[in-house]
Amino acid sequence: MLRDKRILLVIGGGIAAYKALDLIRRLKERGAAVRVILTSAAQQFVTPIAVGALAGERAFTDLFDPHSEFDVGHIRLARDTDLVVVAPATADLLAKMAGGHANDLASTVLLATDKPVLVAPAMNPLMWAHPATRRNLALLAADGVALVGPNAGDMAESGEQGVGRMAEPLEIVAAAEARLAAPTTAAAGPLKGRRVIVTSGPTHEPIDPVRYVANRSSGKQGHAIARAAAAAGAEVVLVTGPVHLPDPPDLRTVKVETAREMLAAVEAALPADIAVFAAAVADWRVAEAGRHKLKKDGGAPPSLQFVENPDILRTVATRAQGRPALVVGFAAETDEVIAHAKAKLGRKGCDWIVANDVSPEGGTMGGDDNRVHIITAEGVESWPPQPKDAVARALVARMATALGQAPQ
Ligand code: CTP
Repeated sequence: MLRDKRILLVIGGGIAAYKALDLIRRLKERGAAVRVILTSAAQQFVTPIAVGALAGERAFTDLFDPHSEFDVGHIRLARDTDLVVVAPATADLLAKMAGGHANDLASTVLLATDKPVLVAPAMNPLMWAHPATRRNLALLAADGVALVGPNAGDMAESGEQGVGRMAEPLEIVAAAEARLAAPTTAAAGPLKGRRVIVTSGPTHEPIDPVRYVANRSSGKQGHAIARAAAAAGAEVVLVTGPVHLPDPPDLRTVKVETAREMLAAVEAALPADIAVFAAAVADWRVAEAGRHKLKKDGGAPPSLQFVENPDILRTVATRAQGRPALVVGFAAETDEVIAHAKAKLGRKGCDWIVANDVSPEGGTMGGDDNRVHIITAEGVESWPPQPKDAVARALVARMATALGQAPQ
């Protein structure tokens, strides 16, 4: 299984780093080629010379070392591998990975890689149990990062016990083999086996064959949620209005134009465990769209009669049978964001409302960042402004937790 596989081992700075030396041996015994990155903290526990002797090639330590950057740059380190293993993965390294930091060689390579990643955490039990570490692990799980251990037992610190010991080298080897055998990065995700429907983008409501009523939604947030759910292992159907975005890989995209088509596509995609309604659906459509292009003909401008569109979110959230276990609506507001969103939660019958301020000065519509408030029956959680991809990953992690599949 590991014969001729290229493993990039990132050693973090913890006492368990000594076990990483044995891990290198075990991987090499099985025919793998092992390249090693040591963080600067790791070098307090094991030396580049010892690592280099076992790996059979020198260890990489420095992002700004002209020699290694010229020879095997950080992008090549990130790509010329079949699997990245982080062992020991310290609390700090996990936090950096979850936050997308890139301020040393290890974190930069972890951000630059598109290969599967396996982490073997090792830390004090209180650090492992801390809500910050829990949050980071949920984010990493949503990103498709696989986990081995930690185990329970005695800690290096005398008298301390609990969960936090790094998995043994042979357990990490077995997890590496399983990770390489998994068909996609999503296979181990926290939404594995779940069906998720996401609506995204605007709808276009025709006035005549060439004109339509629409809004400024770009679809970026909805598409990011669909991608994050797929990366977390879910089977995803993305129902999208017209957008200038590529169809995401690893999921089914259904393209629609109008609100009525969107409702039909969503109903056809049911049943689902989770439905997320991120689309900016036009509330009204023109009652009688012209069959031919409207002409000026020198007369008065046409007056358009509007009728209300079906409310897709409400229709699904209030289904008597076959309602998804978790129904999430969005609220696009320009004023009194939280008050309006709270009212919407009751009116729509959904479980959560993700409220965002779409007033033009915020730049949310069409922009890459979003500032959201999560409104549930329990209260309001306000998240800091962050990229839409990060909002998507955090939402997916929260959904997985709500469905009871968060990492234990
Ligand atoms: N929504 C929907 N179908 C509609 C209108 C809205 O599914 N016909 C969904 C949106 O996808 C979003 C939520 O309902 O998840 C709220 O959309 P929003 O436009 O903010 O709310 P409205 O229902 O239009 O309420 P209001 O006009 O009071 O803002």
